[in-house]
Amino acid sequence: MITLKVNGVEYKAQEGQTILQFLQSHGIYIPHVCYNSYLGPIRTCDTCVVEYNGKIVRACETKIQENAIINTESERVKEAREKAFNVILRNHDLYCTLCDNNVDCELHEAVSKLGIYSQKFLPKPYDVDDSNPFYVYDPKQCILCGRCVEACQDIVVNEVIKIDWSLNPPRVVWSNGKPIDYSSCVSCGTCVTVCPVNALMEKTLLGKAGYFTGINPEVKEKLIEAAKAGEKNFAPFMLISDIDKTLRKSLIKKTKTVCPFCGVGCSYEIWTRNEREILKVEPKPESPANGIATCIKGKFGQNYVNSKDRITKPLIKEGDHFREATWEEAIKLVASKLTQIKEKYGPDSIGIIASCTSTNEEAYLAQKFARQVIGTNNIDNCARYCQSPATTGLIRTVGYGADSGSAEDLACADLVILIGTNTAEAHPVIAGKIKRWHKLYNKKLVVIDVRKHEMAERADLFITPNVGTDIILINGIAKFIIDNNWEDKNFIRDRTVGFDDYKKSLEPFTLDYVEKVTGVDKEKIITIAKWIHESKGVSIAWAMGITQHQDGSETSTAISNLLLLTGNYGKPCCGAFPLRGHANVQGAGDVGALYNFLPGYQSLSDEKVRKKFEEAWNCELPKKPGISSTDMVDAILDGRIHAMYIMGEDKVLADADQTKTRDAFTKLDFLVVQDMFMTETAKYADVILPASAPLEKEGTYVNTERRIQRLYKVMEPLGESKSDWEIIQMIARAMGYNWNYSHPSEIMKEISSLAPIFEGVTYDRLEGFKSLQWPVKKDGTDSPYLYKDSFPFPDGKARFYPTKVIEPQNLDENYDLYLINGRMLEHFHWMRMTGKTEGIKYKVPQTFLEMSPELAEKKGLKTGDEVIIESRSGRIKTKVLVSNRVSGNKVFLSIHDDKDMNINWLTLDNKDPTARTPAYKETPVRVEKIESCTTCEPPLPRWNPRYAERTPQIGVKVEDKWKRKDYMKVIDQ
Ligand code: SF4
Ligand code: SF4
Ligand code: SF4
Ligand code: FES
Repeated sequence: MITLKVNGVEYKAQEGQTILQFLQSHGIYIPHVCYNSYLGPIRTCDTCVVEYNGKIVRACETKIQENAIINTESERVKEAREKAFNVILRNHDLYCTLCDNNVDCELHEAVSKLGIYSQKFLPKPYDVDDSNPFYVYDPKQCILCGRCVEACQDIVVNEVIKIDWSLNPPRVVWSNGKPIDYSSCVSCGTCVTVCPVNALMEKTLLGKAGYFTGINPEVKEKLIEAAKAGEKNFAPFMLISDIDKTLRKSLIKKTKTVCPFCGVGCSYEIWTRNEREILKVEPKPESPANGIATCIKGKFGQNYVNSKDRITKPLIKEGDHFREATWEEAIKLVASKLTQIKEKYGPDSIGIIASCTSTNEEAYLAQKFARQVIGTNNIDNCARYCQSPATTGLIRTVGYGADSGSAEDLACADLVILIGTNTAEAHPVIAGKIKRWHKLYNKKLVVIDVRKHEMAERADLFITPNVGTDIILINGIAKFIIDNNWEDKNFIRDRTVGFDDYKKSLEPFTLDYVEKVTGVDKEKIITIAKWIHESKGVSIAWAMGITQHQDGSETSTAISNLLLLTGNYGKPCCGAFPLRGHANVQGAGDVGALYNFLPGYQSLSDEKVRKKFEEAWNCELPKKPGISSTDMVDAILDGRIHAMYIMGEDKVLADADQTKTRDAFTKLDFLVVQDMFMTETAKYADVILPASAPLEKEGTYVNTERRIQRLYKVMEPLGESKSDWEIIQMIARAMGYNWNYSHPSEIMKEISSLAPIFEGVTYDRLEGFKSLQWPVKKDGTDSPYLYKDSFPFPDGKARFYPTKVIEPQNLDENYDLYLINGRMLEHFHWMRMTGKTEGIKYKVPQTFLEMSPELAEKKGLKTGDEVIIESRSGRIKTKVLVSNRVSGNKVFLSIHDDKDMNINWLTLDNKDPTARTPAYKETPVRVEKIESCTTCEPPLPRWNPRYAERTPQIGVKVEDKWKRKDYMKVIDQ
């Protein structure tokens, strides 16, 4: 601790604290307009000046030394502060009562607290840019603090904006001066979140945040002029705006929740007015997975919640139509039909799918319903389509099927290897962390992928192995490491078993063989091995580019073996990171919505475990593993499954080979679908139960980092829709089971009593923005990273697990191209949710086929041409986009279509033999032109950010501001 005096009073400060941090922690107010705790000191505003040992310094950047004497209110400080504020207020017109930012405006707070009642405003000669669909920039109100630049350049690292200090006056510029809509801005909204004033505003907030902010702009301008004519004292105006600010508290409700889209698990407050109107999404520095960052979907894609397409009443099919029904009638019908089918064909004739967008509590009840009420293990979730192979590979080798550390551990490794993951588009906020460490701290990045996406462009080494040969590459790297004696011998000896068999299994993977099969140059394989050897920590992240192959489980196992070989488990800044797709796909599996595991990945065959559940649930548990989600389609077709209960999953669109899936659904005796929308699957249903949206309920999610976080209810359920947990409970009760949960916290209590990894989880410990990463001990101690002391096997040691190579689907003369598929940043899956936001559709209105210039030339195709893509299972029509992101005999189609261009008209249903995940990413196809384009407009609009170049720099380059002739220095250094 350090001793210091502030305004004559003695205090103790922490070692390394800045003056501002210290003053904030002791409730001593000084203004700090450009400072944000997540961004750190930016040093553009000079409003935080204090006297420090006799000198005027910036409090945000100055660390406290022993015996410091600080004065925050001396005459010199006041004079310097006034000068700083004169500059700020020259750039910003204070019309707070009429401003939508007067809710938590940091400038308003400073002006009010300091009692500043006049200003000399000099409007800048720049127009407002409102070209982006989501936010607007008003240069006249911009105080040039640079927070937005810092966030865009170095936090989310999208590298779009700068302050051009050479302009007179300076201005924030997008892509060196383009209109925002044509810049490389990916609309993540992080700059808008951090802007302390109303220079960057969400369009949804404009005119809505105050009682007087929605008035006609011309009237508004006149009022502003009248209220502040000349330079007269505007104290009364500020007083009114203070009162107005207080009144707005009853107008706007702020509710914390967790993003319903991807597995990054961003949390934020949602501001609403009039019950359901969403004004804005506001992440906070204390958001554990994301801080101030979001992506376009979380920040601007929540409109689905109020969509007119929402189902708001139970529906029962009559003939080929649905009619509205009461809950009582619908539940009675579901209960009696499921009971009849169970009695007639046995419990295993029913299949149940839990939703990965539902909460843990709901997924838990779905599997409890399957096991206790129906008596089957036929329960699964959408992890079957994506990350189950990763779970298999990790459970085999290290014991837990989850990320071994936090996203920060992934990013801070000396060497980050991304394999089969388009992280910047599928997990953008995690990508931001990786980009930040790579940019600012010189970490190495290797990208192994079929497409040259953003992370590949940034990589120190980017390679594209032949389709389906990643496992050979990984094993080749491992063998080279062993051949060079680079393995971590101590780690292998102390913390693993099975090394000798593993080593033997690698014998075939010589450099020559690996080079021949993968097509990757030997030197590059050696480089990766060498970089792994030289790095203190190595992290490997992978996603569906690995798992959606027949050998997904094997490749995931090989990745984990490689990490064990090099001692990259059990410490910070290293490890295995299978990046989870849906918001709660990790949690759905954790709480047991799996056909082969009980909650907490406890074994179905362990008698002690079974007994525990049987006692808790007062039933006999089915012993044999159930049928996986993807195998349920075959089970319907061969008569083993007669009824299904599907929650929040558009299985018709999600399963491979859509023709076959549709055929199967026509053969079901009874189908219940619980959803927000009339999905393609719901169209086959006998009963549709209206589910409420994630924003309309309480509960918890687990993100890809094993981080458990609470959702709070932002608004009431729409119409008669209900939370999944309430609906499942109604059916269970109608089937004779006296479930009696009155709040999700009671369900969590049951989960934590039965699943040891959740043992210490309580709602109190997750209050607000707090989170816990499982396993959580009884006392609440959680696990930001795993395996510090031991692996969860009886002997505490990890297992090397020799892998099998499975040949990928081969091309032939009829099907000469590999069709690759994946996500795009803007959309989520079948666009049920993101497709309800106009701005997102404007940026990406449709899917299209990407192919390389070389392939396009060979096929006589150009951007805009219409083509047929045909595989062994089906054909679709789409348009071509020629792009350098793909190469060779590979073409790419995004998964974002819910109709005729849906990828699964084409995919084949050959599966990973262990995890039962379809090999979605190795579909042989042929492409034929059906019509040449006339206007040849690209199917991806020209205002999509992918067309503009990034403009990187580090920070806001405040030194350039200080060099300007008009810069008025107020500090002493
Ligand atoms: S990418 Fe666009 S929205 Fe995101 S921080 Fe940069 S400029 Fe702002
Ligand atoms: S637009 Fe950027 S530079 Fe301007 S006030 Fe907002 S955060 Fe500061
Ligand atoms: S979609 Fe994913 S990255 Fe984007 S805001 Fe939501 S959780 Fe974060
Ligand atoms: S807060 Fe310190 S310079 Fe702006």
